[in-house]
Amino acid sequence: MTTRVLKHISELTTNDPSLGDESALGRLFDAAFVFDDDQVLWVGPSSDAPDADEEIDAGDCAVVPGFVDSHTHLVFAGERSDEFEARMAGVHYDGGGIARTVSASRAATLDDLRRGTQKRIAELFTGGVTTVEIKSGYELTTEGESRELEVAREFSDEVTWLGAHVVPPEFTNNREGYVELLKSSMLDACAPLAKWADVFCDRGAFSVDEAREVLTCARAKGLAPRLHANQLAHSGAIALAVELDCASVDHCTYLDDHDIDLLSASATVATLLPGAEFSTRSPYPSARRLLDAGVSVALATDCNPGSSYVTSMAFVIALAVREMAMSVDEALFASTKGGALALRRGDIGHLGIGARADFAILDAPRAAHLAYRPGGNVVATTRSSSRD
Ligand code: NIG
Ligand code: FE
Repeated sequence: MTTRVLKHISELTTNDPSLGDESALGRLFDAAFVFDDDQVLWVGPSSDAPDADEEIDAGDCAVVPGFVDSHTHLVFAGERSDEFEARMAGVHYDGGGIARTVSASRAATLDDLRRGTQKRIAELFTGGVTTVEIKSGYELTTEGESRELEVAREFSDEVTWLGAHVVPPEFTNNREGYVELLKSSMLDACAPLAKWADVFCDRGAFSVDEAREVLTCARAKGLAPRLHANQLAHSGAIALAVELDCASVDHCTYLDDHDIDLLSASATVATLLPGAEFSTRSPYPSARRLLDAGVSVALATDCNPGSSYVTSMAFVIALAVREMAMSVDEALFASTKGGALALRRGDIGHLGIGARADFAILDAPRAAHLAYRPGGNVVATTRSSSRD
């Protein structure tokens, strides 16, 4: 196994409070760290760095943990830029366009789906993402959801079955029939292919009771629950996420005090997706209220062709800082450690000793440039232990 030392890091964010300045972000200046093919072995001042098989000079640039994009819908065909244009002219997003992507994805070949996913993964990686969660949800048949999960598994271990995205057109007059299909043969085929189960629990999608039924069955078949909640309207979906001990409840665009109280007393992470509010011209979620109440917050791209065709975590960070009053450090933490918490992973999202050696070297002296220089790519090099 080759060891490498990365030296002359102007600002190293470890997210390990026991390191560096002992802040939550565990910052070190003029720092170095040693890693092997898998994990971080040593962290400290550049002047104290031990020898390793290879030495890399960070050139007085900042280094951050690789971003953990804990919410994407990368497996799809087609695009919906016409809907985006209509929204910018005043049309509201209601999820109705999901059916168009379902139709395009059903018509696509496996290779089309694979190529599109690969392209979006490459964009995420170039922008510093080293772990990505990928959902199915754009075919809504047993065979179609299975093949989307198979494609997702080629790129990630964090794969989520989202058969309960919306009721597909052929079941419009028989939604009970679709919920039955979800709970029986579709789940039987999909459970072995996924780690997580998700439901779009919102106006126009699935009710709280339907989501509870689907997630309870999924859990019995070995899938861990997560939930899309309160993107379009206020509902009891946050309470359901807490009741089921979901790892994460995602969107949280509409929140009341009771939701925040429930989240702050739970282990459920609130995953905020400001690319969706940006792209649907919707109000941004109350990140400040969540953070001030002590709720764990993650940021993710929600990359999908309808509500957020975004593959840049730096852009998400910039939105969180500019539009949601998060500090740069809060946004950076939410994009790394927050994402890891949303996937219940202790080995990623930080650069403490023993963490996976997943990181991004920036073309900038401080991590703040991620938000300060929106629109370009501040990430110079992405390194992921799973790609070596
Ligand atoms: O997370 N809200 C549900 N699903 C996606 C959007 C899907 C689409 O519009 O294609 C989301 O925003
Ligand atoms: Fe989503």
